[in-house]
Amino acid sequence: MNATTPNPLQLCVIEGDGIGQEVIPAALDVLKRVAPDVVIRPMQAGWGYFQEHGTSLPEETVEAARECKAVLFGAVSSPAYPVEGYFSPIVRLRRRLQAYANLRPAQYLPVPTAKEGVDLLVVRENTEDLYIGHEHTENDGQTGIAEKVITREATERVSRLAYELARRVGRKKVTIVHKANVLSQSDGLFRRVALEIAAHYPEITTDELYVDTAAYWLVKEPTRFDIILTMNLYGDILSDMAAAWGGGMGLAPSLSLGEEIALAEPVHGSAPDIAGKGIANPTAAILSVAMLLRHYWNRLEAADQVERAVRETLAQGDHTIDIYAQDAISTADFTARVCAHLP
Ligand code: NAI
Ligand code: MG
Repeated sequence: MNATTPNPLQLCVIEGDGIGQEVIPAALDVLKRVAPDVVIRPMQAGWGYFQEHGTSLPEETVEAARECKAVLFGAVSSPAYPVEGYFSPIVRLRRRLQAYANLRPAQYLPVPTAKEGVDLLVVRENTEDLYIGHEHTENDGQTGIAEKVITREATERVSRLAYELARRVGRKKVTIVHKANVLSQSDGLFRRVALEIAAHYPEITTDELYVDTAAYWLVKEPTRFDIILTMNLYGDILSDMAAAWGGGMGLAPSLSLGEEIALAEPVHGSAPDIAGKGIANPTAAILSVAMLLRHYWNRLEAADQVERAVRETLAQGDHTIDIYAQDAISTADFTARVCAHLP
């Protein structure tokens, strides 16, 4: 939070597609309990919106996000084939808002699907790499080419944020993850610049791993990680892997941060396989709101209250179907139980 944050606090809310429309109202129920002063501005984006209006991210949504300086984003469905005029609104929004660092914690929660002792944070660069979307085909469509862009500027700011955060929250180690042995110009630059920044934080241990080795260790011994600092694509993949140790996709929150902007967004997608049934796990969205309260709005007590309520609900055995099927409860019932644990 900084001097230009609106007073009262404002939140641009984009439910998006699929279960975004189920987990975001749940997260708002919780937010309204712990921060009733926050002004909510509902806005539109996504595949459904594209089909009706011909754009996946209307300008008024970007404008509202800029004015509020804080966004809660559900999920959108993106087709895996080219559609004329369509682009992923969340990837675009992160870039337009320059929300350049995506914090993705994987932390043990009291569910049988989580691994005890895991407490790691993936800090993912959010504005470049292969995600800039510069793609084309050659050779009559038989060759697909994508550009990977890594810059000193983006690497410096995400690295600095990772180390500043480590210092602030008392984390001890940063592992820089790359593939500089193969991609010496792009990943090599990321590695070099991240190590330059690391040198300013001698009290924090820095090591590095190739991304394939990092994937191996994430499966084999996830407790060896503290902060993982990496590029956009590797961060996307490794954070989904890490989410498994936190208990699953339904429990994995994230927060994207920029200079004057925060975007709270669960790691998961629109989950078309379960959408519309009222059974999605709202925990990831609820904990994303807690991250917004803690790391951006500086509402530490409210963040603590939300996180405690989620832990107590899960510890009591209340769960949605993604955790396990027996005695699973609905999104609405689970949310009501979390609210019942709030002061
Ligand atoms: P997904 O995260 O939507 O689903 C993966 C699996 O996890 C599914 O079996 C789903 O049912 C389950 N799952 C996810 N969130 C859950 C929750 N809250 N509660 C219970 N179960 C949950 O990923 P998938 O299937 O690869 O992608 C589906 C769509 O979502 C695609 O169109 C993709 O492009 C989009 N997507 C959007 C993202 C975003 O908007 N930030 C991120 C990832 C995918
Ligand atoms: Mg992903």
